[in-house]
Amino acid sequence: MASQEALQRHYASDGIAPRILAALRAQLGDVPVTPALLAPLDHFHGRGLAATEEMAALLAPRPDEHLLDIGSGIGGPARWLAATFGCRVSGIDLTREFCQAAEALNEATGLSERVRICQGDALDLPFPADSFDKAYSQNVVMNIAVKRGFYVQALRVLRPGGLLALSNLAQGPAGQPYYPTPWSPGPDTSFLSSAAATESDLKAAGFLQIYVQDRTDRLRAFYDEQRERLKTHGPPKLGVHVLMGERIKEYQRNVARSVEEGRLLALEITARKAAA
Ligand SMILES: C[S@@+](CC[C@H](N)C(=O)[O-])C[C@H]1O[C@@H](n2cnc3c(N)ncnc32)[C@H](O)[C@@H]1O
Repeated sequence: MASQEALQRHYASDGIAPRILAALRAQLGDVPVTPALLAPLDHFHGRGLAATEEMAALLAPRPDEHLLDIGSGIGGPARWLAATFGCRVSGIDLTREFCQAAEALNEATGLSERVRICQGDALDLPFPADSFDKAYSQNVVMNIAVKRGFYVQALRVLRPGGLLALSNLAQGPAGQPYYPTPWSPGPDTSFLSSAAATESDLKAAGFLQIYVQDRTDRLRAFYDEQRERLKTHGPPKLGVHVLMGERIKEYQRNVARSVEEGRLLALEITARKAAA
């Protein structure tokens, strides 16, 4: 599909894992590579590790559970959850170069047994029904035009009673956001829903107990803090610019401005599959 190719061109680059590991070593020396040390570089969504920690509190993974990360990027959240909670995590992502980087970083952190990544489409998940205890997706649904299809697939692979947690950026009341953004070069590969449409799509897909929380204030506060830190300390050496290149700075400025002007909302969502 043309839009999927455009998306992969937006995200992909060569040599991601070696670049990340070299940046880490340049700052910290020859230390053991852990998900915590990698966190500034491999949680590719607004508010990074802080947002993953909040989502983890909602998911409350147990060591005997198997989670699915839909749109797992280079695998930072999956590795961090597996290392922190002892659970298994499978990830799926459209971008081949991201999946390769995820596998290499799983290896570097010694987590290959508990974190598995495959390349594929969230709209056609290659897993049997009822396979996962919990599933999550952070800053991915904005790339998906057919949102109900995404939610139907997530529901199918969750076990009865399983929980889905989502961090979605959504359309604000003040019009389209400024592009390019971290998830899209322009409006052709960006599909922002409203909070109400998200709830209705989840309901139509068959989810129950749907809770949608507006977390835009937290994202706004994060960008305010980032601006202050930049003034005092200058740009950080370790950040998602190592993954995406210096272009990320323009993307992040556009998100911060869009949030400020009411063009983007940050939603935190949980929904449950009916018990058997
Ligand atoms: C902004 S990144 C977020 C990555 C990861 N969730 C994280 O928070 O670190 C969005 C990711 O969604 C993936 N993606 C977009 N459309 C997809 C699809 N149809 N199926 C699977 N992954 C998709 C992209 O390849 C990219 O890795």
